[in-house]
Amino acid sequence: MHYHEYDDLIKNNRLWVDEKLAENPTYFKSLAQGQRPPFLFIGCSDSRMPLNSFTQTEPGELFIHRNVANQVSLTDMNLLAVLEYAVEALEVQHIVVCGHYYCGGVEAAYKGTATGVVENWVNPIRELYLLNRDEIDSLPSERERLNKLSELNVVAQVKNICTTSVMHRAFKTGKFPEVHGWVLDIERGYIKDLEMPFKAWKDLGIMP
Ligand code: CO
Repeated sequence: MHYHEYDDLIKNNRLWVDEKLAENPTYFKSLAQGQRPPFLFIGCSDSRMPLNSFTQTEPGELFIHRNVANQVSLTDMNLLAVLEYAVEALEVQHIVVCGHYYCGGVEAAYKGTATGVVENWVNPIRELYLLNRDEIDSLPSERERLNKLSELNVVAQVKNICTTSVMHRAFKTGKFPEVHGWVLDIERGYIKDLEMPFKAWKDLGIMP
């Protein structure tokens, strides 16, 4: 892994601006006109998942919220403000919760090794593991168990999205964004679009 020096960051920025302007002299002027991103992304803070790179999207396309292990907590004002603004003001068409394999937060929750504030933060994943222990522990390798927990974590967070007051209001209007759950397979680079149990959630009255 090659890491840049701090000074490279500003230099790279200058080069990137020149490149963009060479392609399109009004690129930044148009960006300044405002944003209408079709997608809200909720991802892990992990440095190995730069969402724009992985989806080959440009500035202006993704509205983004990231935190350790892509949690959707119903008491997190930060997340809720992002969600409300994305749904009600920006009117995004899709919400994507994106987790990943090799997630340090998921691993710490699984092993019970998190400490300090991170321990509190990943505790919902620890509970998720304990709740699904039979299914997870039946998998043959630790890698598969961790990957499974990463996936279950994404499903749980998509479900949390659907239980927010913001989404309830949107469901009532009949005009609401589609929700999706992805995991990024860091080892291969591919996005895995996970099947969500929408039918079960509809039966439970979580979504229309
Ligand atoms: Co992570």
